Amino acid sequence: MLYDTIGKTYAQTRQSDPRIAAKLLEILEPFQASTIVDIGAGTGSYALYLAEHGYQVLAVEPSTVMRRQAIAHPAVRWIDAKAEQLSLSSHAADVAIIILALHHFPDYSQALQEIHRVTGDGRVVIFTYDPDLISSFWLTEYFPSFIADVQSTFIPIATLTAEIETLMDTAVNIIPFPLPHDLSDSFAAVGWARPELYLEDNIRNGISSFAKLNEDELELGLSKLRRDLETGIWDQKHRYLRKQTHYDAGYRFIYTIT
Ligand SMILES: C[S@@+](CC[C@H](N)C(=O)[O-])C[C@H]1O[C@@H](n2cnc3c(N)ncnc32)[C@H](O)[C@@H]1O
Repeated sequence: MLYDTIGKTYAQTRQSDPRIAAKLLEILEPFQASTIVDIGAGTGSYALYLAEHGYQVLAVEPSTVMRRQAIAHPAVRWIDAKAEQLSLSSHAADVAIIILALHHFPDYSQALQEIHRVTGDGRVVIFTYDPDLISSFWLTEYFPSFIADVQSTFIPIATLTAEIETLMDTAVNIIPFPLPHDLSDSFAAVGWARPELYLEDNIRNGISSFAKLNEDELELGLSKLRRDLETGIWDQKHRYLRKQTHYDAGYRFIYTIT
C-alpha cells in the first residue's frame, strides 16, 4: 500500500479545504441522501465534514496508516476494504464519493461496478483532475516527469464520463473547481500562487507525485526553484498568479445527475 509508506503525516498537510467541502455539500444536496460511502477516504477529513453536516458515512480505506490518523465520529464507520471490492451489501449507501483517490485505484472500472451495486443505481460524486491540463502548470518546468506521471495515472475526463454514463445509465455533470490561493488541503497544485510551499518537506510528503519522483530530478528541480525564487526569475514569469484569487489548475467535480 503506497499510503502506508507516504501517508504517515497526511493528516497534518491534507486537511479538508472548506471551499471544496462546501461545494461537495452543495452537489450532494439534491440527492437527498442519508448514507454516503466515501471510497479511498484517507484520513477521513471529508468524511468527518459530511458527518458533522448530518450524513452517515461509510469510510472505505485500505491503508492502516491512513485509517489510524482519522478523528473518530459516531456517524463515521471505517471499513478496511478496497474500491474494487467494497465489503458492503447492495444498497448499503445512497451515494458514493471519491475525493482525489480514483487515480490510485488499480481497476477504476471495477470500482464503478461496485458503486453501481452498493448505491443501487450508481450515484456518484468524483473530485479529480483533468490530465490534459498538466503541461500548462508551471510546476512541470521544474519537475518534467510530472507530465508523464499524471497522464498515465489520471483518467481522461471524457473517458471517465462516458464510462459512468454507460454503466450508470444517466447523464453526468462536469464542473471546474478553480483553486483558491489559500487552499488548506495541500494536494499537488496547492502552490500555484505560493511556489515556496514546494520547498517544504512536509508539504511534498503529502503529495504522491513527489513521492514517485526519482531523487536526481527532485534535487535538481528543488534547487532550480529555490534559485529562481531567490533571483526573481519565477516572479518575472509567473508574478500575475500571486495576484489572482483563484486559478483553474484542472480540478473537476464529476457527478451523476439526480
Ligand atoms: C490522495 S488520498 C485521498 C484521501 C481522501 N479522499 C482525501 O481527499 O483526503 C488517496 C487514498 O486512496 C486510497 N486508495 C489507494 N488505493 C485504493 C483502492 N484500491 N481502494 C480504495 N482506496 C484506495 C489510498 O490509501 C489513499 O488513502
